[in-house]
Amino acid sequence: MLNVLVTGGSRGLGLCIAERLVSAGFCVISIARNRTEQLEAAILKAESDALGELHFRAFDLMDTEAMPAFVKSLTKEFGILFGLVNNAGIGTSGVLATMPDREIQQLIRLNILSPIIFTKYVVRSMMGGRGGRIVNISSVVAATGYNGLSVYSATKASFAGFTRSLAREVGPLEITVNTVAPGFIDTDMTHDLNDMQRNQITRRSALRRMPVAGDVSDAVNFLFSEGARNITGTTLTVDAGNTA
Ligand SMILES: NC(=O)c1ccc[n+]([C@@H]2O[C@H](COP(=O)([O-])OP(=O)(O)OC[C@H]3O[C@@H](n4cnc5c(N)ncnc54)[C@H](OP(=O)(O)O)[C@@H]3O)[C@@H](O)[C@H]2O)c1
Repeated sequence: MLNVLVTGGSRGLGLCIAERLVSAGFCVISIARNRTEQLEAAILKAESDALGELHFRAFDLMDTEAMPAFVKSLTKEFGILFGLVNNAGIGTSGVLATMPDREIQQLIRLNILSPIIFTKYVVRSMMGGRGGRIVNISSVVAATGYNGLSVYSATKASFAGFTRSLAREVGPLEITVNTVAPGFIDTDMTHDLNDMQRNQITRRSALRRMPVAGDVSDAVNFLFSEGARNITGTTLTVDAGNTA
């Protein structure tokens, strides 16, 4: 069974992606700081469905110094890694002029520095296998902009350059690197959106609806499939046509 790491795979989009990849037959190791009830239920379901496997390992992705040892321990326990979904992220909002520096630094640390350093060590493990898949979870606001999300947007926009350059670097090793950019989706991260904002997003979308987590997990699953073997260095937008 091929091993795939999904960061932030304890709830929201990450858990949905983890479950989708399990149903496609992967051995998924979900990484976050805390276990959740939804995750426990998904682990039980994975055991009874017996299509793939779902495991959880607690790790604080802010701790970049502990990453080499953590990835080494995962490789030792599960074997060579095939896939990585860089999904964990925080969506702290705030007007730049009044945003505390500490919050700006946290956003940059978890959303940019952490996935780059984590990918570095995971790629090393992938090199021992016959290829691999890396998917970075960005956001449509990286391209469109959104009031109060300048720092978050900057962090998400960084994936575009990282994805394209890394795709060139690891392509000869049969490793693909792509970004998925979701529109607004109902999760803990977006629970502050009010009805007016939701209606506005819906009205401005070509399909007159908001995408759901399952749409994003289907897109990630496609990028992990044999059918996507020649797709690398791209961004796939999943937003019901909000930015069309
Ligand atoms: N929801 C949306 O509308 C939307 C739209 C576009 C893009 N995105 C992107 O999609 C990704 C997932 O978003 P979401 O809405 O599913 O978020 P979420 O519901 O807030 O879940 C975030 C996940 O990341 C984990 N996480 C946070 N800090 C962590 C840390 N320091 N170490 C390890 N894990 C950590 C959380 O677990 P713990 O807290 O237990 O660690 C959780 O599993 C993010 O990158 C986000 O930017 C979301």
